[in-house]
Amino acid sequence: MRVNKPFDVPMEICSSRWIANETREIILAPLDGASGVMRRAGGISPLPGQFAHISVPGVFLRRPVSIAGYGDGLLRLLVRRAGRGTDILCSLPAGSGLSALFPLGNPFPQDKIAGIARSGGRIWTVSGGIGLAPLLFLAARAAESGIRVDSFAGFTDEKNAFGTDELKSCGQCAVSIGGFVTDLVEKELEKSKPDMIASCGPAPMLAALQRICREHALAAYASFEERMGCGIGACLVCNCAFEADGGFAYRRVCADGPVFSLMEAKLP
Ligand SMILES: Cc1cc2nc3c(=O)[nH]c(=O)nc-3n(C[C@H](O)[C@H](O)[C@H](O)COP(=O)(O)OP(=O)(O)OC[C@H]3O[C@@H](n4cnc5c(N)ncnc54)[C@H](O)[C@@H]3O)c2cc1C
Ligand code: FES
Repeated sequence: MRVNKPFDVPMEICSSRWIANETREIILAPLDGASGVMRRAGGISPLPGQFAHISVPGVFLRRPVSIAGYGDGLLRLLVRRAGRGTDILCSLPAGSGLSALFPLGNPFPQDKIAGIARSGGRIWTVSGGIGLAPLLFLAARAAESGIRVDSFAGFTDEKNAFGTDELKSCGQCAVSIGGFVTDLVEKELEKSKPDMIASCGPAPMLAALQRICREHALAAYASFEERMGCGIGACLVCNCAFEADGGFAYRRVCADGPVFSLMEAKLP
């Protein structure tokens, strides 16, 4: 399912600031000529869970980064310094140019979210570290459509925490510092259940969450982070095994995901 057409947009960094120890918020705006092209082609309307493939100066392959917010043509990214590419991205000052191919991939399930809005249901987000980035976009959009979004956010330590005030504007937010965020989820499940869980984070966290969701028969979706080449389904660099028909099948995280049902994932 390709939900909207991607564009390779020449953009400029409007602002870039540290929001946590190793994490930067980078806001990109289309360069003058690019906004006209985007408008004529029907505009760009990314959905939560989709990502941008960012060209980083001096680095051969683009780097995939989740869309953490989008409005008035401004693209919000939250970037954690992990290696050469993200280090360069975090060091670029306002005014620097780069190109962003977006929106790519499939978002969190829109029909299900619309149904939850209609029935007055609840969504929980569960994140580990920078995995919070796509969930901030999801929480904001879901809250706009009247859904209460409660969140469980895990960070390794205080210095790496970010985004919790934004989450609190959409519902309750429980924060785990240096522990297992899934312990908080299990505790809350003794009192209430959501209609859907949206998650993103390291594989061990997703594995623990998968076990919990199986035990409680909960609908859960996760955005998966995998090394990528092309980002558009052509090179198979991002191929991963998922459960299918009693066996397993390879799926391309960039084009078939990055959002999948958490129940289909083969996790450690
Ligand atoms: C769909 C998607 C969404 C993502 N969203 C974000 C985001 O919002 N913010 C953010 O900071 N990062 C995000 N990532 C991860 C980000 O793409 C990687 O951290 C980045 O590509 C690493 O590049 P580098 O040159 O800095 O590091 P490299 O030098 O290439 O690698 C440094 C370390 O990062 C690991 N790594 C490399 N690529 C990935 C990858 N794709 N996923 C996970 N680990 C990787 C390597 O194994 C290595 O340990 C996302 C990845 C995907 C696939
Ligand atoms: S990155 Fe090339 S197929 Fe996914």
